[in-house]
Order: sequence, then C-alpha cells, then structure tokens
Amino acid sequence: MGAGYNAARLSRSKYKDLAGREKIINLQSIRIDIPDMILNETYTLSNGLAIPKVGLGTWLIPDNEVASAVKSAIEHGYRHIDTAQAYGNERGVGEGIRGCGVPREQIFITTKVAAELKTYESAAASIDESLKKLDCGPADLIIIHCPQPWAEFRGAKRYFKENKEVWKALEDAYLAGKVKSIGVSNFLIDDLVNILEDCRIKPMVNQILLHIGETPSSLVEFCRQNDILVEAYSPIAHGAALKNEELAQVAAKYNATIPQLCIQYTLQLGTISLPKSSNPEHIRSNVQLNFTISDEDMAALESIGQDYGKGKREND
Ligand SMILES: NC(=O)c1ccc[n+]([C@@H]2O[C@H](COP(=O)([O-])OP(=O)(O)OC[C@H]3O[C@@H](n4cnc5c(N)ncnc54)[C@H](OP(=O)(O)O)[C@@H]3O)[C@@H](O)[C@H]2O)c1
Repeated sequence: MGAGYNAARLSRSKYKDLAGREKIINLQSIRIDIPDMILNETYTLSNGLAIPKVGLGTWLIPDNEVASAVKSAIEHGYRHIDTAQAYGNERGVGEGIRGCGVPREQIFITTKVAAELKTYESAAASIDESLKKLDCGPADLIIIHCPQPWAEFRGAKRYFKENKEVWKALEDAYLAGKVKSIGVSNFLIDDLVNILEDCRIKPMVNQILLHIGETPSSLVEFCRQNDILVEAYSPIAHGAALKNEELAQVAAKYNATIPQLCIQYTLQLGTISLPKSSNPEHIRSNVQLNFTISDEDMAALESIGQDYGKGKREND
C-alpha cells in the first residue's frame, strides 16, 4: 500500500467515474490514481501495516442494504470499511467487498469483537465466526468493541482481568495470521494500561468517540505516546453536528458542508475518520476535502458544545 495504494485495478468494463459519468473501458490492468484526494492517504500502524485515513462507517446499515453502500463507497474511492459483530451486517459487508470489482488486498476491513464477550473462548470463537461471515480471507483489523458490556458502559466494574483474556484471543488470532492488526475501542487510559502492562502485542488502534465538541485530548495524547493510532468514530456526532448553527457558519467560511468540516477536523488531529453514510451523494461529497482548517478555528471547534457526546453508545 502507501502512495498510490488507492489505485484501483477494477475487473469490470463498466464503471462510474468520480463525477458520476459512466465509462466503458477494459480496466483489467489499468490503475486509477486520484490525485490530491484524502482517499489516497494512509497512516502506518505500529506493525507497519498501512491503513487508509478515511473509512466508511456501517453502524445501523442493515445487512441486506450494506453491500450497496459498500460498493458505492468503493466506487467513489474509499478503501476502508468499518463494521462490527454488533452491527449484524458483516455478511453484507463481505458481499459488498467481494462484489465491488476492486481486488480484496486493496481494501481494509475492520470488525469488532462484541462488547459482551469477555472470555478467551467466546472471543476466539467470535473471531472465527466474523471471518466466516465476512468471507474475505484474513481481516485487516479486529478490535475489542468496548472494555465493558454495553449495559455496564462506563460503570464501576472495569473488566480488567476479562479484557486481558479477550486481548489474548486477539493476539492469538494475529499470530495465527487470521488478522493483520489488532486493537481496541472505547478504551480509557487505565483500560489501555491494563493491556499494555503484560501484552505480547501492543494494541495498534483505539477507536473512540471523537468529533467537534468532543475531543478527549489526554486520551488522544496517551495513545500517540504509545504508538496507538486513534480512530475517530461518529465524526459527524452521529448526525447531531448537521443541526449546529455555529458549525454551519464555520463550514461556510471554508465553502464546505458541515460533514466535510467535521471529517477534516478529525483528520487534522491526526486521527482516522469513520463517517457513516448509506447515501451515495453523501458518500461522495464527504471526502471532497480541499481545504485546511486554520489553527485558530481548530481550537475554537474543539470547544464548541454538541448535543451528542460523552456516554452515548451504539445501542442507545
Ligand atoms: N466503536 C464504537 O463504539 C463505535 C460507536 C459509534 C460509531 N462507530 C463507527 O463510526 C461510524 C460513524 O459513526 P456514526 O454512524 O455514529 O455517525 P456519523 O458518521 O458521525 O454520522 C452519521 C450520520 O450523518 C449522516 N450523514 C453523513 N454524511 C452526510 C452528509 N453529507 N449530509 C447529510 N447527512 C450526512 C448519516 O446519514 P446518511 O446515511 O443519510 O448519509 C448519518 O445519519 C459508525 O458507522 C461505526 O462504523 C463505532
């Protein structure tokens, strides 16, 4: 991967270009480079694996609809798809990836071990089940969805011992070649320290709630210091950002939409951005990011209030 990684080698003879024009051409060996596009850019995980900076979120896209969202995203140049056991759509995500016409090795797939699975055995079995449902060979990244079961999210019981067990299952899957990288999600600093103190393989990512108005700076800094890449989930505040007047004004200044401003904000913080959309026009426009937010506006955006923030979880 790396520069030009996004160059797609489509096997179909009919496709739509970025402007939506239909093209008929023998693409078997043609590489499509999309200059100056965020979708071409990758970060490098601590084990050397390249990971595209923007991924399509798929939470709440039903299993029987997600293949078309995945195909639309890949057609528009996305090469990174984020799913989870809890989303109930791994089968459909796999179908979309297998049917998109872009070679599997050019697409980065993440899935997550359900938050409720807190034993080695249940986590290991769930990884095999996910791989079977995705049916796309080894996954690129598997993460622990949450340090606690959702029903106890941010509660007193921390599941430190159990998370070490689940982590061991991820390490074993990694060492067995079932997955190319492993990480966690929704982990706070002490949840990370718990894993770091005696793990064989350090978590490579921490996927956390991060958007304008909800930027956990000390957690982001801790991850940075420990070579753990931060992935920003709900970058558009699960849609709440769309109604924010202050954001509308800042976006207008950059001639951008609110979602574009939100996604650019997370990228300028050096995090992965995982916007969800099942609307092809949103999927396309969300990555047209030809502007840079000034340092002054970045600081102002960090302190803007949002209705959607701390304590929200995926089964709310
Ligand atoms: N690890 C975790 O615990 C966790 C938790 C939450 C989320 N995530 C991941 O992060 C992804 C994104 O988070 P999210 O789904 O909460 O929300 P999000 O990406 O912050 O926002 C998605 C919402 O914004 C809308 N939207 C997107 N682009 C738009 C546009 N250009 N114009 C108007 N509306 C637009 C979408 O509707 P349309 O579909 O109609 O475009 C949807 O309603 C998830 O799908 C999931 O993969 C992970």
